[in-house]
Amino acid sequence: MSINFKNVNYTYNSNTPIAHTALTDINLTIKDNIVTALVGHTGSGKSTLLQLLDGLLKPTSGEINVNDFILKSKTKNKGLKPLRKEIGIVFQYPETQLFAETVLEDVMFGPKNFGYSDKEAEATARKWLKRVGIDEDLFQHSPFDLSGGQMRRVAIAGVLAYEPNILCLDEPAAGLDPSGKAEIFSIFKEYQREDHGIILVSHDMNDVANFADEVVVMDHGKVASHDKVQNIFLDPEWLIRHHLNEPESISFALKLRNRGLDISPALNVKDLAEEIINEVGENLNE
Ligand SMILES: Nc1ncnc2c1ncn2[C@@H]1O[C@H](COP(=O)(O)OP(=O)(O)O)[C@@H](O)[C@H]1O
Ligand SMILES: [Mg+2]
Repeated sequence: MSINFKNVNYTYNSNTPIAHTALTDINLTIKDNIVTALVGHTGSGKSTLLQLLDGLLKPTSGEINVNDFILKSKTKNKGLKPLRKEIGIVFQYPETQLFAETVLEDVMFGPKNFGYSDKEAEATARKWLKRVGIDEDLFQHSPFDLSGGQMRRVAIAGVLAYEPNILCLDEPAAGLDPSGKAEIFSIFKEYQREDHGIILVSHDMNDVANFADEVVVMDHGKVASHDKVQNIFLDPEWLIRHHLNEPESISFALKLRNRGLDISPALNVKDLAEEIINEVGENLNE
């Protein structure tokens, strides 16, 4: 299910005195079945772009094609349900997404809304709640009694439960400790391997480098770059100009290069360790 933006502009409160343009002339193709990271400074338009994908917001001008769906300024919500089943969005603040009396009912809502029977909805809700690490003891609790990290897991389960073709995640690791984060990312990776696309909004370049295949850099409502992850972090000055930093493994590799070691910029700590072992090993053997 590929996504195509053609000359898309988005203005909040368009034609009013408080009009505010959030996206300008977006032309972008997001490929099927890969992880695309969406990065950029606060206010660069990442969350707005996500909300355009399932027609929650409509472009002020231009159009977005998602398979057979065409989203334009005049597109009506009626008829968008099949699209919303395929584009699942986990929002930045999970408390805005949760609403039901109990955790289980909350996660069953999506599947029921998209036509699963009560029995099927309960089965998929239980499966995904367990998979994201929510203990069965919590299923009958109010989602608002949970910790921030647990709420985020429930919000994630609530979207995974209807198995959207494209999973959109707006800062999914916020509020999780490092082991919780590793766990949740491994679930996302597994989901992607089962032939799903993922769009990940993140300010953490270590996560982006570790997890993404392609990166879209947003700057002041425009696409500043769209490239494979291994090409995005190569120019430190360009990154600074676009309010980004480099993953730690790359800055570390660059420091070693400056000291004369022949180390390639590695995208994660594991690859960096390999690089160092190869290089130092060679020196030791000399
Ligand atoms: N509901 C809204 N009403 C008016 N302006 C908004 C609204 N939501 C976001 N904006 C503005 O649109 C721009 C893009 O915001 P957003 O998409 O939330 O950026 P990001 O997710 O990259 O931080 C920002 O200037 C922000 O202040
Ligand atoms: Mg945002």
